[in-house]
Amino acid sequence: MKLDLAPVPRGVDADELLALSDRSGKMLQKIRDSMLQPFPRKQAPIYPSNKVQALCSIDKTKMNYLLKRGELPTGKQEAPGRMRYFTLAETMQWVKKTVDIPERAPGQKGKIITVGNFKGGVTKTTTSMMLAQGLTLRRCRKVLILDLDPQGSTTTFFGINPHAEIDAEQTILPLVDGSVEDLRHAPMKTYWDNLDLIPSSTDLFNAEFMLPAKVHQGDETFQFWKVLRRGLEPLLDEYDYIIIDTAPTLSYLTINALFAGDSIIVPVVPDALSFASMVQFWSLFSDLIGGLQSNKHTEDSKVFDYIDILITRIPKKPTAELVKDWIIKTYRDHVLPVEIPETPLAMNTSAEFSTVYDMPSYDGSTDAYRRIAEPFDRLVDLIDNKTCALWETEKQPSLI
Ligand SMILES: Nc1ncnc2c1ncn2[C@@H]1O[C@H](COP(=O)(O)OP(=O)(O)O)[C@@H](O)[C@H]1O
Ligand SMILES: [Mg+2]
Repeated sequence: MKLDLAPVPRGVDADELLALSDRSGKMLQKIRDSMLQPFPRKQAPIYPSNKVQALCSIDKTKMNYLLKRGELPTGKQEAPGRMRYFTLAETMQWVKKTVDIPERAPGQKGKIITVGNFKGGVTKTTTSMMLAQGLTLRRCRKVLILDLDPQGSTTTFFGINPHAEIDAEQTILPLVDGSVEDLRHAPMKTYWDNLDLIPSSTDLFNAEFMLPAKVHQGDETFQFWKVLRRGLEPLLDEYDYIIIDTAPTLSYLTINALFAGDSIIVPVVPDALSFASMVQFWSLFSDLIGGLQSNKHTEDSKVFDYIDILITRIPKKPTAELVKDWIIKTYRDHVLPVEIPETPLAMNTSAEFSTVYDMPSYDGSTDAYRRIAEPFDRLVDLIDNKTCALWETEKQPSLI
């Protein structure tokens, strides 16, 4: 039998490659244009007065008294006697005035918190987002969130399509390729007051080639794991917090994120598989910190303010209780005293790229809302209280 041969391949020369590259670029532009159309732009929530009262721990009478004094925004009312509504910025002014929040002293630096775990789906992105929003809302902090996952989920939470709308120049890549010294150019304003974003895009994958390439270029003094910390350092005068959301991989970028953190939060879901993968996380993490520290170029050794585990997305199952016990027995005071339950509300809000803080009010059951909102409020307060304690100690060097 005679085989039916294919036509002879005609070869690909440089011109053909150029044409292919040109066509790819044009197609990407088309895809970007079409993706841009339906992408929803987010708006900050408008909170009803009862929510503002809860945030400020004041009752209606106290609010009315403060309104009469005329020093705080009055919000909007459809008609006299009706519910008042406050913008997010107005709400923050109320919190600032009524809650006694310790301030960061002039000259003191903000804190970098890295949210990491090499496992996906453990709520790293949700936790980063809730922390960032919560710290601005409950403690009037100025926060920067850095999306270091090339998948760009955090960026999407801001109503921005990371793959269609973000160029490499807007991410941390210019820092990685050495074309800028620091990241002062990068933060962009978002729909949420006092919360800025350094977005991600698929281009971030390139960092995984750029950083090792620099290592191999033979520059003996180049410490690839310190690039991000150096780039963020000048921003710590402006921001009280920089929250870094990471990818679920041990990549060059994740290593940078772990080294950049003053502290690390490791969210973990209490099931046996996640426990096993967290064991691996600690082993790799300690090897990494220990290994890079013993490098002859590292003179200053890394000390984290704290490394905390957040038990999260806890299902109502006996096995979850069991694994929770293992976690608490193993990691003891590294486990944050707050438990985030698994709830349909949390799942639904994040499916729509929003969080419970984005919800001005909730039409469903108040219990369902409280079950997820209260532990997050507590988490935000716990973290800010730790930071306040650290800032206080730093003010008095003799106490260290
Ligand atoms: N408290 C919760 N209860 C139920 N589902 C949740 C909760 N928190 C997050 N989720 C869901 O878990 C999934 C993973 O969360 P995500 O924050 O994207 O994790 P990661 O960034 O670690 O991959 C998301 O689909 C989200 O909807
Ligand atoms: Mg994520």
